[in-house]
Amino acid sequence: MPSTLVIRRFIKPALFVLCALPLLSLVWAGIGIGGASLGANPVERIQDTLGQWGLRFLVITLAVTPIRDWFDMTWLVQLRRMLGLYAFFYVLMHFLTWLILDQGLYWAGILPDIAKRPFITIGFAALLLLIPLAVTSTNKMMRRLGRRWKTLHRLIYLICLLGVWHYYWQVKSDTTEPLIYLAIVLVLLGWRVWKAQRAPGAILRNTTP
Ligand code: HEM
Repeated sequence: MPSTLVIRRFIKPALFVLCALPLLSLVWAGIGIGGASLGANPVERIQDTLGQWGLRFLVITLAVTPIRDWFDMTWLVQLRRMLGLYAFFYVLMHFLTWLILDQGLYWAGILPDIAKRPFITIGFAALLLLIPLAVTSTNKMMRRLGRRWKTLHRLIYLICLLGVWHYYWQVKSDTTEPLIYLAIVLVLLGWRVWKAQRAPGAILRNTTP
């Protein structure tokens, strides 16, 4: 197991840079470095990339606890907050791309769109639910909320399902990818249920959502 010092000095900074790469790749393509480009529909490319990574980081965050248990990697939990915050960051950027670049802040169209297009409603609900998790991710909030913090952070289960549902609903023909996400999320959630049933009360005592 790496020491706290190694995690703080090397692993966390490396992970921070790694998680920023999808955003940087969009910036590189936007600027046109090395001949890269955002293609014929840059707004769609930016929005889709940010949405994809938002969902990936949500699922990776959800996977931290099972992987910790399966491979006895207790130190992984120290990286979970950063992964969760990156999930929030990418989803927020995905939303802002839609709001500003796609809708042009045209509120008369935005509000009905959120209410009337079910896949947007679901995505928006997921984003709203992510906000309290991001706001309470600090050590101070963790201490202040005590046991309620764990209960609140279990919202990540619902958020992941909403994120997959949102993805599933917006694909036009091939549903393979969203169904793969669904399968992964169900395994990660199913494992938690199985663990809770094997040791009743364990999931409540557990420090991890
Ligand atoms: C947890 C929240 C969310 C997640 C995980 C998420 C994820 C995704 C993913 C994976 C896609 C498919 C990208 C692709 O086709 O490659 C997508 C598409 C889309 N999302 Fe989200 N999203 C979320 C929230 C939102 C919100 C809040 C909005 C706006 C209110 C939004 C608007 C859209 C739109 C308009 C598309 C379709 C883009 C297109 O036509 O290519 N999403 N989202």
